[in-house]
Amino acid sequence: MYKVHCLNNISPEGLALLTDQYEIVDDIEQADAVLVRSANMHEMAIPANLKVVARAGAGVNNIPLEAMAEAGIPVLNTPGANANAVKELVLAGMLLASRDIVGGIAWCRDNADDENIGKSAEKAKKQFAGREITGKTLGVIGLGAIGKLVVAAAEALGMKVIGYDPFLDAERAAAISPTMTFTADLADLYGASDFVTIHVPATADTKGMVDADAIAQMKDGVVFLNFSRDSLVDDAAMAAGLADGKVGCYVTDFANPAVMAMENAIVIPHLGASTAEAEDNCAIMAVNQIMDYLENGNKVHC
Ligand code: MLT
Repeated sequence: MYKVHCLNNISPEGLALLTDQYEIVDDIEQADAVLVRSANMHEMAIPANLKVVARAGAGVNNIPLEAMAEAGIPVLNTPGANANAVKELVLAGMLLASRDIVGGIAWCRDNADDENIGKSAEKAKKQFAGREITGKTLGVIGLGAIGKLVVAAAEALGMKVIGYDPFLDAERAAAISPTMTFTADLADLYGASDFVTIHVPATADTKGMVDADAIAQMKDGVVFLNFSRDSLVDDAAMAAGLADGKVGCYVTDFANPAVMAMENAIVIPHLGASTAEAEDNCAIMAVNQIMDYLENGNKVHC
């Protein structure tokens, strides 16, 4: 019987798919397979019996890929399984940066006992006035599973989209959206976009790619959204951009101390994939990957 250890809480919907050839074990040392979500495996010793690791998520930067490769242990992931959840939060991020929904909610809570709430609200609403996203330009860096969905959703909301992906040519980009402007030059995207969202993996090449030079090429007051990985953005450059107003708003899914207390940053604690649906999808895909590898030797992703 194959033994599976879960390093994080993995959705029961996925675990229920394990056939009677599998047992969930508490002791990682016994495990043939490890299921992981966000736990950092870099500092962990590789369990003696381990044959495969599956991440219930797309990014694999919490797993020591080189050490696993040296040990002959494949690392599998679930690209696309949580893409819709991330897309929805990107849309929410653009709307939160454009409309002071949070300020308005807080004002209502604070004034719940006001007997003249109607009049007070009429006066107060001026301070919460915002802007619309329809007609604005969104730059999408990375046109993979998430980027593609963001393009379609933004276009459906009436935004103009300019896309960049070094792994695509114009023909493949046109298949994603014939109305999107595709550029092979990030400077074009930065110069044209009111909003920029980044959807690329964390690698040595992408580390710190949003640096002071990149920010200098962006429009004044740009809204920059990062729902990919914290390491893509140079902290000091982003904090400086926010401080001098070059960056109008930084919306990030990473609780980064360099920016999280700043007024014009909207920071949330890695919630992009945190929906019931995405957690089920990732768990189901990861469990299927483990079974397909252990039983048939197939490695579909990563
Ligand atoms: C991903 O890489 O897909 C996300 O980080 C998943 C997650 O939040 O667990």
